[in-house]
Amino acid sequence: MPVAATVAVATPSHPYDILIGTRLLAAADSWRGLPQAAHAVVVSNPTVHALYGAALEAALAPHYARVSRVLLPDGEQHKQWPTLQTIFDHLLDQGCDRRTVLFALGGGVVGDMTGFAAASYMRGVPYVQVPTTLLAQVDSSVGGKTAINHPRGKNMIGAFHQPERVVADLDTLATLPPRELAAGLAEVIKYGPIADAAFLDWLERHVDALVARDADALAHAVRRSCQIKAEVVGADERESGRRAILNFGHTFGHAIEAGLGYGRWLHGEAVGCGMVLAARLSAALGLVDAAFAERLARLVARAGLPVAPPALPAARWLALMRLDKKAEAGEIRFVLVECPGSAVVRAVPDALVARVIAAAGTAADAAPPP
Ligand code: NAD
Ligand code: GLY
Repeated sequence: MPVAATVAVATPSHPYDILIGTRLLAAADSWRGLPQAAHAVVVSNPTVHALYGAALEAALAPHYARVSRVLLPDGEQHKQWPTLQTIFDHLLDQGCDRRTVLFALGGGVVGDMTGFAAASYMRGVPYVQVPTTLLAQVDSSVGGKTAINHPRGKNMIGAFHQPERVVADLDTLATLPPRELAAGLAEVIKYGPIADAAFLDWLERHVDALVARDADALAHAVRRSCQIKAEVVGADERESGRRAILNFGHTFGHAIEAGLGYGRWLHGEAVGCGMVLAARLSAALGLVDAAFAERLARLVARAGLPVAPPALPAARWLALMRLDKKAEAGEIRFVLVECPGSAVVRAVPDALVARVIAAAGTAADAAPPP
């Protein structure tokens, strides 16, 4: 039986399941019971489509009279309007109607753009997430946040639109480059400090196995991450409160991505470093002790992620973070750890934020190669 776990996501707008397991792309059960339509459109990129496109399209063929595809350019720098337009062009060229089902085959970039296209084409069509990166399997494919970047701010233009299903085939992780696997581990690690201290302990014991792609360790990490994310988004679908904790490390991380130019640091790398800064900020505020922040820094480093931030001028950091979606009335608000396994969101004085960044040093060499 290829499905190892099913995690239910009970969002008020649209409940759905996450299927997690091996051999799921080819399994007929993965694709049964989805909305019926004449036409399915697979949205992917050339890298992922070359690996898994044929398997997905063959599995969809019995369910849809037509299966077409649109391939987007690969990379975070393409998560923008002109790329989104290529999806709309394809849907219109192919005469796609309101019942057409989109299938997002790829990582978070493909998933976020396909979701946004599905949210807005003819004011909304159904879509299915088929995540093929660790990051997408543990985070971006779940919860219905869809977006593109604006040159001035990450994920600034988007919509909430829940998928019909998430099909996370763990076999796809075998072809992921090591740097991308590490980036996904950042979002896995995130769930420990904010929601589950026991999972944080487990990660410390199993991070080497995860880096080595041990199948059981990866299956557990994906399942536990999805359970936590499902619980959080089920309780607060549109981020009016608790869901903001999922942004742990992201206020710093998004500033790194936008400040360096999208694609220079991977999203997960920026989040990894951002979590270390956010934990140190939590310690500077007296919420956790400094030893906890350094414990997290060691885990992030063992996952193969940068812990030192890139060299950005202090004023630039603050200007970028003021654009964060959690900011209110010009005040930057951070997700902070109040004790291992629990997070709060708070405004923090600029001077303290600047001090934490300065104390972390600026290791230009720490920037991974573009
Ligand atoms: P990505 O989509 O760019 O994929 C990373 C790279 O891996 C790409 O080059 C891709 O072609 C390649 N790839 C994908 N699957 C592969 C496979 N199985 N084998 C080999 N190569 C493969 O990056 P990502 O890390 O998956 O996603 C990052 C994006 O997700 C960011 O834009 C981020 O903002 C977004 N995100 C969204 C949410 C959300 O809730 N919507 C949450 C977290 C992150
Ligand atoms: N990745 C943050 C969220 O889904 O809310």
